[in-house]
Amino acid sequence: MAEQHKLARGVALVGAGMSKFGAFKGKSSRDLFVEAFNEMLASVDQPFDPNQIEALFVGNYSSDLFEGQGHLAPILASWTGLNPLPAVRVEDACASAGAAVYQGILAVASGMYDVVVVGGVEKMTDLPTEKVTDTLATAADTQFEIPAGFTFPGFYAAMATSYMHAYGATPETLMKVGIKNHNNGSLNEKAQFGAKISTLMEARKASAAKKGLPIPEWKDELEFLHDDKANPVIAWPLRLYDCSPVSDGAAVVLLVSEDLAKKFSDCPIYIAGMGQASDGALHDRKELNSIPSARLAGQKAYQMAGVGPEDIDFAEVHDCFTIAELLATEDLGFFERGTAWKAAENGETSRDGSKPINLSGGLKSKGHPVGASGVGQVVEVWKQLRGQAGERQIKRPLKYGLTHNVGGTGQTCVVHIFEKRD
Ligand code: COA
Repeated sequence: MAEQHKLARGVALVGAGMSKFGAFKGKSSRDLFVEAFNEMLASVDQPFDPNQIEALFVGNYSSDLFEGQGHLAPILASWTGLNPLPAVRVEDACASAGAAVYQGILAVASGMYDVVVVGGVEKMTDLPTEKVTDTLATAADTQFEIPAGFTFPGFYAAMATSYMHAYGATPETLMKVGIKNHNNGSLNEKAQFGAKISTLMEARKASAAKKGLPIPEWKDELEFLHDDKANPVIAWPLRLYDCSPVSDGAAVVLLVSEDLAKKFSDCPIYIAGMGQASDGALHDRKELNSIPSARLAGQKAYQMAGVGPEDIDFAEVHDCFTIAELLATEDLGFFERGTAWKAAENGETSRDGSKPINLSGGLKSKGHPVGASGVGQVVEVWKQLRGQAGERQIKRPLKYGLTHNVGGTGQTCVVHIFEKRD
C-alpha cells in the first residue's frame, strides 16, 4: 500500500445539517438539499456570511434515472444562492457523498479554497421499488453480474451466506443488528423508520385488533422477525428488516481551513485521517466475507491519523444490509475476522457497548438516500463529538469518530476519521 500523505494544510468541519430522511411525495432533491443547507447554516456557532463560501461539492448517485434530472450541482448551487460558484457533482454509487467529502477536503487542503460546502442528496421514491432496484443495479457490473440475475439484496445475500457458512453466524445474528439499529434510530428525529422493532410489532398487533382480525402472538421482536408474513424474505437470508429502505433525503456540511476554524465554530471538528480505495466488481473477488476496499481505505485513514481501530470511540458504518455492518466492523479492524457477529450478539456495538456502531440508526433505520448517506454519517459524528446528539448521545468523553461509506458491493469505499480537540 502506498503511504497515505498528510494534508498540505489542516481542514475542519464547522457546520452540519440534514433534512429528515423518508419518503416525501412532492419534494424534489432541490427542496431536500435546501432544507439541509439551511440547517447547516444555522448550526455554525459564529455569525458567518454565506458569501464566504467558495465552492460546492455534491454527492449524488443518479438524479438522472431517479428524477430525470442530470447536471444537478449547478441547480443546487442556484437553489441555495451559491451561483456562480464552481459546483461539482461527485458520483461513486452509494459512496458518492463520502467521495464528495473527500474531494471537498482535498480542495481546501490544496489551498485553492478556504471555505467549501459539501452535500449529498438523493430522491428515490418517485420510482416504484422494481425501478429503484434496476437503477441501483447500474452500480454493479452490468456486463457480467446483472444479466446473471443479481440485484443488490442478492449480492449482499450472497455475502451473508458466505459469512454465515465461514464463521457460524445465523440469520438471527443479522436480526439483532437490525434490532440494535432500530433502537438507535428510535432516538433520531430525522430517521425514516425511527421506531424500535418492538414498537412496530405492537402497532401491528393493535392494527389487527382494531380491524377485528386475529391478533398475532409474537412474544418478542425475534419471533416477529422470524414471521415470514411480518418480515418476508427479500433474498435469503436477508429479510425486509435486514434491508435499508428506499429513501429521499439530503445532508450538508461546511468545511474550512484549520486556521479559520475557530472563527466559525466554538467547537470545530478536525479531519484526522481519510482513505479511499476501489476494487473490481464482486464476481471478480477471491472471497465474499470481507470488502478489500474497506480494509484498505481504513488502513489509509488510520495511517494518516496516526491512530488505530482501538482509538476510535464510535463509528457510523455502511449498513445497507445488516450483514454489511458485520463486514464493516471487521474490515475496519474493530473486531477480528470472523468475530464481529459474536460482538454484535454480546451487545458490544450497542449504544452503551465498547464500540458503539450506527448511533444514528444507520442506513437501516435512519434511511438510505444513496447519494446523501455518506454526508448523513458525518452529520452524526459532528453531533456526537460536539455532545449535541440528544437522547442518543454517548455518555463518555469522545475524541475520535469514524465514517465508512461503501459504493456498490465495495467497488468504492471511503473512510474518514474526525477528531475533537481539547
Ligand atoms: N425496513 C423495514 N420496513 C420496510 C422497509 C425496510 N427497509 N422497506 C419498506 N418497509 C415497510 C413499509 O413501511 C411498508 O410497511 P406497511 O405495510 O406497514 O406500510 C412495507 O414494508 C412495504 O413497503 P414497500 O415500500 O411496499 O416495500 P417494498 O417491498 O417495495 O421494498 C425492499 C422493500 C426491501 C425491497 C426495498 O426497501 C429495498 O429494495 N431496499 C434495498 C435498497 C437498496 O438496495 N439500497 C442500496 C443498497 S447497496
